[in-house]
Amino acid sequence: MAILVTGGSGYIGSVTVEMLRAQGEQVIILDDLFRGHAATIPDDVPLHQGKVGDRTLVRHILATHDIDACIHFAALTYVGESVDDPLHYYENNTNQSLALLQELVTGGVRQIVFSSTAATYGEPQYTPLDEAHPQHPENPYGWGKLLVERALSASEGAYGLRFVALRYFNASGATAERGEDHEPESHLVPNVLFAALGKREYLSVFGDQYPTPDGTPVRDYVHVADLGRAHALALAYLRDGGEGLYVNLGSGRGYSVLEVIETARRITGKPIEARIEAPRAGDPSFLVASADKARAILGWQPQFDDLEGIVASAWDWHSRHPHGYGDQ
Ligand SMILES: NC(=O)c1ccc[n+]([C@@H]2O[C@H](COP(=O)([O-])OP(=O)(O)OC[C@H]3O[C@@H](n4cnc5c(N)ncnc54)[C@H](O)[C@@H]3O)[C@@H](O)[C@H]2O)c1
Repeated sequence: MAILVTGGSGYIGSVTVEMLRAQGEQVIILDDLFRGHAATIPDDVPLHQGKVGDRTLVRHILATHDIDACIHFAALTYVGESVDDPLHYYENNTNQSLALLQELVTGGVRQIVFSSTAATYGEPQYTPLDEAHPQHPENPYGWGKLLVERALSASEGAYGLRFVALRYFNASGATAERGEDHEPESHLVPNVLFAALGKREYLSVFGDQYPTPDGTPVRDYVHVADLGRAHALALAYLRDGGEGLYVNLGSGRGYSVLEVIETARRITGKPIEARIEAPRAGDPSFLVASADKARAILGWQPQFDDLEGIVASAWDWHSRHPHGYGDQ
């Protein structure tokens, strides 16, 4: 049996494909390549280039391959872009996901792992955030993901669909072969390293008066390879008959923006200029996961438990790929 991986040429998807194949899984990718990279896809992995909302294409894929599960990464991922063009985000991330789910159910594929996000929680009411924390997203990106979560829950009883929705915190780091290459890049770790590489003059720090130890926002960084392993465990859980599950994927430890910059200075040996700028609207001060549920239910044991290892792996990849995959 094969696994359909949507968004499998993107950052987290491509690393997960690498992990799944290392376990001997057969993988089929569905990706529009809009923000992904064909170079990440191994030669012997079939790529169907197109939209997850293209029902004819999804039916064709299901008819052509023997698929028993789908890992659904494909989405647009920028909070700011979702605020500027919400209908586009709802169409791409929500409507197309619903179309995909409908085709999967009709085609008999009832095991789904879904890429959800910490953005479904909104402003934290307590920390660390566990899965029972209320969900009040602050932007269309978060709302679009939450609506898919709700559709998954409703589909469980109605169609016998079983799912694991993984709410990632800040994915970062790289494997030896695959790293983060987004255009535009909005994530902190690659942007700090771009400053180290001289690809940008300085790093903007948005606000230094937050109620955190050094005044800059604190986030939970989780290594992309640990995320990949969590997807493999989620699949095993579903294949063992596990029922609908929402779990956080984070390290359970928070680092401030200034701590990330300091770590990157140490690892790269570069000065990395940081300039304090105005805070961004809607940036919470503290976003750290409780990952106890993933450990207890999925048996997830993150192998990277500190920022040092995450930044070092990203630096290794970026310094060997200063132009990313070189296709954009
Ligand atoms: N990167 C993070 O820190 C983070 C955090 C929380 C959640 N997530 C979620 O994880 C998933 C993967 O994130 P990523 O950072 O790897 O993103 P990415 O942009 O690197 O990869 C997404 C891939 O999906 C493709 N895609 C987008 N819409 C599509 C569509 N309608 N049909 C077919 N392909 C489509 C893109 O072209 C790209 O190849 C996303 O669902 C994102 O919302 C990411």
